[in-house]
Amino acid sequence: MLFRPQKIVCIGAGYVGGPTMAVIADRCPDVQVTVLDLNAERIAAWNSDTLPVFEPGLSEVVSRTRGRNLYFRPQAEGLAALAEADIVFISVQTPTKTAGEGAGKASDLQYVEACARLIAEHARGHTIVVEKSTMPVRAAERIQQILSANQAGGTFAVLSNPEFLAEGTAIRDLQQPDRVLIGGEDPAAVVALKSIYASWVASEKILTTGLWSAELSKLAANAFLAQRVSSINSLSALCEQTGAEVSEVATVVGADSRIGPKFLQASVGFGGSCFQKDLLSLIYLCEHHALPEVAAYWQGVVDINEWQKRRFAEAVQQAAVNRRVAVLGLAFKKDTNDFRESAALTVCRALLHSGCEVVAYDPRVDGQRFAAELGNPAQFSLASSAAQALAGAGAVAVLTEWEEFRSIAWASVKLSPGATVCDGRNVVDRAAVQQAGFRLRVIGSAPD
Ligand code: NAD
Ligand code: UGA
Repeated sequence: MLFRPQKIVCIGAGYVGGPTMAVIADRCPDVQVTVLDLNAERIAAWNSDTLPVFEPGLSEVVSRTRGRNLYFRPQAEGLAALAEADIVFISVQTPTKTAGEGAGKASDLQYVEACARLIAEHARGHTIVVEKSTMPVRAAERIQQILSANQAGGTFAVLSNPEFLAEGTAIRDLQQPDRVLIGGEDPAAVVALKSIYASWVASEKILTTGLWSAELSKLAANAFLAQRVSSINSLSALCEQTGAEVSEVATVVGADSRIGPKFLQASVGFGGSCFQKDLLSLIYLCEHHALPEVAAYWQGVVDINEWQKRRFAEAVQQAAVNRRVAVLGLAFKKDTNDFRESAALTVCRALLHSGCEVVAYDPRVDGQRFAAELGNPAQFSLASSAAQALAGAGAVAVLTEWEEFRSIAWASVKLSPGATVCDGRNVVDRAAVQQAGFRLRVIGSAPD
């Protein structure tokens, strides 16, 4: 009989580790899953009624599994589980390096390396170590090196199993993935990990590749997705100048089955913790391997995104009839409480820098944390509803596509007379804004 792993540990209880392990525990009731994190507060939240991550469907999965075969433990209390684990996932952050060689571009692997050292010290017997975090290509070499220096006599196989979930749809993406990717050179380890996913994913959707292909495929997939957003965003500017409508152009282009309709929604710019950092990681790898033309190609995707956020902020600033700007939406996309690298951070900073007063509303983001990220400026305040944020504003910046922004009753909104609604997501009811007597600027449409 093939080896069926019984005990799984995941190091890192973040946006990926928490939801992914909850779904594995849900779909594999025979497997015990323990999630460890150095951040005791985060673990306490996973063990409470207020989960640290907001994702549609997540709380239901957690309430079915937590305490049955899913456990969240502070790292120091989970070392026994680590010793017994058949599989250990590494699901910690891999942010852009801020110092040292490659600063500003290369991925910072210090958190991953700390996990490898912890596993080397505590694992017993044979352990399959899985890279779940997004890594630069050939990072597994470094993990193998650290593991092989262990003194405790354990043996290891290293696999790459990058995660493709998107925030806001994480549970659906995990339950019905387009594909699961397992990269590795050890057939027994690949089969063991495959047996976990095969509990709910059709085998033709479980792709197996070499380690380096798996690592690079993850960076490539994010780069392709980001490139589509920058492509449509670059054209949004041309639409605004020419009277073409970007949503119509996207529909026509996307109707070609070779191109497809997804990821062609023009916006104020992509955000999130991964697109930019993964593009920068890819760019660094290209530079490191003396491929400056390839690096420049992908740098263009990052540059268009920065430009798009900047030019949107400038448009809001110029449109404002007084210094008060209402910002609707702080999350980097709808249905998440995550604001890492959100376009709202860039736009709010630019508005504040130009002397505007910003009143912001988001239905899910912890506004205090957002304000702290901005440095708690005196000119930034939070509203508890869209209507409250809008009262008296001289301009409105819609930065996240929350459903509730589609149905704002503009006729009863108390904006300053002559105020402009700047829609960076193409979600507001255009006719309602115009009937209420306000000016409108929508990304990718000629201004009215
Ligand atoms: P996150 O910051 O939400 O979570 C990482 C967690 O790891 C944190 O809670 C942190 O305290 C913990 N941690 C760090 N070092 C640790 C250590 N040595 N021991 C124990 N815990 C430690 O990050 P995330 O968004 O879950 O992303 C994790 C990885 O997954 C990244 O490489 C990211 O690129 C990738 N990824 C993220 C997403 C996403 O949607 N967020 C999707 C696919 C892939
Ligand atoms: C993205 C990928 O979609 C996931 O497959 C990947 O696993 C993940 O990155 C990761 O590696 O972290 P995520 O960043 O959570 O997921 O969300 P997306 O839906 O990809 O959106 C990213 C950004 O692009 C958001 O700011 C979104 O508003 C923007 N976007 C997306 C657009 O502006 N237009 C679009 O058409 C699509």
